[in-house]
Amino acid sequence: MEQSSLSVPSGRLGAARFGRTDRRDFWWVSPLATAIVLTLFGGYSTWAALQGNNYSWGPYLSPFYSPLFLPDWWHFSPAILILWAPLGFRATCYYYRKAYYRAYFLDPPACAVQEGAGRRYRGETAFPFILQNVHRYFFYLALLFLAFLWIDAARAFLFSDGFGIGVGTLVLLANVSLLSLYTFSCHSLRDLAGGRLDCFSCVAFGQARYRIWAGLGLLNERHMLFAWASLLSVGLADLYVRLVAAGVVRDVRFL
Ligand code: FES
Repeated sequence: MEQSSLSVPSGRLGAARFGRTDRRDFWWVSPLATAIVLTLFGGYSTWAALQGNNYSWGPYLSPFYSPLFLPDWWHFSPAILILWAPLGFRATCYYYRKAYYRAYFLDPPACAVQEGAGRRYRGETAFPFILQNVHRYFFYLALLFLAFLWIDAARAFLFSDGFGIGVGTLVLLANVSLLSLYTFSCHSLRDLAGGRLDCFSCVAFGQARYRIWAGLGLLNERHMLFAWASLLSVGLADLYVRLVAAGVVRDVRFL
């Protein structure tokens, strides 16, 4: 069989050495950019979640605090009570797993780039990474959160003086749209629709399931794009509400 020009020819390279590769492109840009963006997002979202203030203004509610849950017995930021669910959904996402295994663990750093030697590769078959298999359950929770975020987006049209549209309305609407594209392009959903079937015409509602599966496949092809776009939008939506609530920025009404 012909040897791919991107593979690591172990015979020529001899003993495995971390980072060895025949690649001549800028393969390190992607893991480096991933590490920078994820670290910045993680830092900002942790800070914003711990603030416990400036998370709402008028009809706007920050997505980091939705659904807003304020029990009497809780004396810390309400975001802490809920953010574990969307965080778990992203952390166990098939795409993000690939991205942060490369960016943070360098395991491997990139395709056809030598990873560190001396460890027995067990993939996600042993603790702790076997826990990544809970992704499907986080997907169910994500659907619930999405419903609340759509309610928030609808409420963002209802100002104290009646129906209106402000910059914040559009920001929250764009954010929940991107989050919906990210959620409905999930690999687990596509698998639920038809991943286990060998023959669509052999099962009940096979035709309908095939159409749904094929449609989800079109979304799924762009899952990486939706993952990054929705990550940025959710951070920016919180930032916008926070700046308006703090009086740093004035919300502009179009209607
Ligand atoms: Fe990424 Fe499910 S695979 S959200």
